[in-house]
Amino acid sequence: MTSKIAVFGTGYLGATHAACMAELGHEVLGVDVDEAKLAALRSGEVPFYEPGLSDVLKRNIDAGRLRFTSSYAEAAEFADVHFLGVGTPQKRGEFGADMRYVFAVVEELAPLLTKPSVIFGKSTVPVGTAAQLGALARELAPEGVDVEVAWNPEFLREGFAVKDTLHPDRIVLGLDASAQGRAEEVAREVYAEILSEDVPFIVTDLATSELVKVAANAFLATKISFINAIAEVCEVAGADVSTLADAIGYDARIGRRFLNAGIGFGGGCLPKDIRAFMARAGELGADQALTFLREVDAINMRRRTSMVETAKRACDGSLLGKRVAVLGAAFKPNSDDVRDSPALNIAGQIQLQGAAVTVYDPKAISNSKAIFPTLGYGTSAKEVCQGADAVLVLTEWDEFRSMAPTEIEGVVRRKVVVDGRNCLDPQVWKAAGWSYIGVGRS
Ligand code: UDX
Repeated sequence: MTSKIAVFGTGYLGATHAACMAELGHEVLGVDVDEAKLAALRSGEVPFYEPGLSDVLKRNIDAGRLRFTSSYAEAAEFADVHFLGVGTPQKRGEFGADMRYVFAVVEELAPLLTKPSVIFGKSTVPVGTAAQLGALARELAPEGVDVEVAWNPEFLREGFAVKDTLHPDRIVLGLDASAQGRAEEVAREVYAEILSEDVPFIVTDLATSELVKVAANAFLATKISFINAIAEVCEVAGADVSTLADAIGYDARIGRRFLNAGIGFGGGCLPKDIRAFMARAGELGADQALTFLREVDAINMRRRTSMVETAKRACDGSLLGKRVAVLGAAFKPNSDDVRDSPALNIAGQIQLQGAAVTVYDPKAISNSKAIFPTLGYGTSAKEVCQGADAVLVLTEWDEFRSMAPTEIEGVVRRKVVVDGRNCLDPQVWKAAGWSYIGVGRS
C-alpha cells in the first residue's frame, strides 16, 4: 500500500529517509527551509557525500514519487504521514541539545493539518520530548483534526545510510499511551516491505523509544573509549591493542566491532548525543547514573591531545617549523562530514604549535576548508607529503590503507609515518625503512 509522506528536514537523516521511502514505493515530499538545498535535491544532487544515495534520489525523482518543497501548507495538504528529521545540535556552551528546530516543525505544521495525521519523530531527542510534542500538536491542530506523535528513532550510520534505512537491524516505534491512534498501523504500512524481511519491530512507549537511541550511541561511545583507554595502558606496558582487541573480540559477549583504537570518535552524533544524554539525566535527577559518560568523553578528547604529542615526538620533539602531512580529514571514511572530526581537530592543533600542515582527504576537503581555512590543502596523498617531516594517517580511507610506502617515499623529507587509526600494516612500512608509530602498539 502506498502512503503519502512528508519528511521535514533534508539533512543527512531527512534526505536519506525521503529518498528511501520513495524507493519503497511511497509518494514523498521532502520539506526544508533551505532553498539552496532544495534546489540541489530537486536536480538529483545530494548536498553531502553518501555512497549510493544520489542514485536512489534521481531514480525516484524521475519516477515522480519524490518531490521537494519549502511549503508547510503543501506538505500538510499532501501527506498524512509526517516524518520529523531535523537536527538537534549541541547548544552553544552547554551540554544539552538545541530543540528549537524540532519544536518549530510541529508549531508550524500542526495548525495547517487538514486531515487525520501521524507525525513520526526520527531526530535524536532528550527523553520526554515526544510526549511534549504530542501535546503541542494536539493543542495546535485545527478543531476536529486528529493528530498523533509517535517516535521512530533512526540508527543510520553515515557511509551506509541507504542500506541502514532500507535494511535496518531493527525498527523501534514508541507510542503515546494517551492517544489511541493509528501510529502502529501506519508504521506497519509504511515499513511493510522492510518488515516482510523479518526485521525485528519493537513497539514500546515514547520514553523507551527515545532512550533506545541515546543508550545505543552511549554504548558505542563507551566501547570506543574503553578500547582507547586500554590502548593507553598498552602503550606504557609495551603491549599491542589491536591483537588484544582481536583476542577479546572473539568472545561473542564482547564482539570485535567498535573496538578499533585510534584517535577516537567524532561526527555529528556520538559526541553531542552523550553530552545531551548526561544533561537530560541531570535534569531528571539521575545525573549520577551517567557520570561514567564524562569519563568516556574525557578519554575520547584525550586521544586528540595525545596524538598531537605523538606527532611532536615523531618530529624530534618540536613541531615548530616542521612540515606535517595529514591524510584524512573526515570524521570517518566514506564520508565528507567533518563535524567534530578528530582528524581535522588534530591537524588544527598541530598547526597552532608552529608546524606547516597540509591535509588531503578523498572527499572532505571543501568542508574542511570552510572550518579550517588556514590549513594547507592538497589534491593527493603524494602532493601533501612533499617535504614532510612526518606523515599522519588520521582517517582510515581504503586509499590510505592500501597505499604502498613507495607511493610517497620519494617526496617526504623523513620516512616517519604515524598511524592514528591503526589501519596500516606496520611490517610493510617498517620493511620499507619507515619508522612506524601506531596507537597502543609497542
Ligand atoms: C553513529 C551511530 O553508529 C549510528 O547508529 C547513529 O545513528 C549515528 O551515530 P555515525 O556518526 O555515522 O553513526 O558514525 P559511526 O560509524 O558510529 O562512527 C562514529 C565515530 O567513531 C567515528 O569517528 C569513527 O571513526 C569512530 N570509531 C568507530 C572508532 O574510533 N573506533 C571504532 O571502533 C568505531
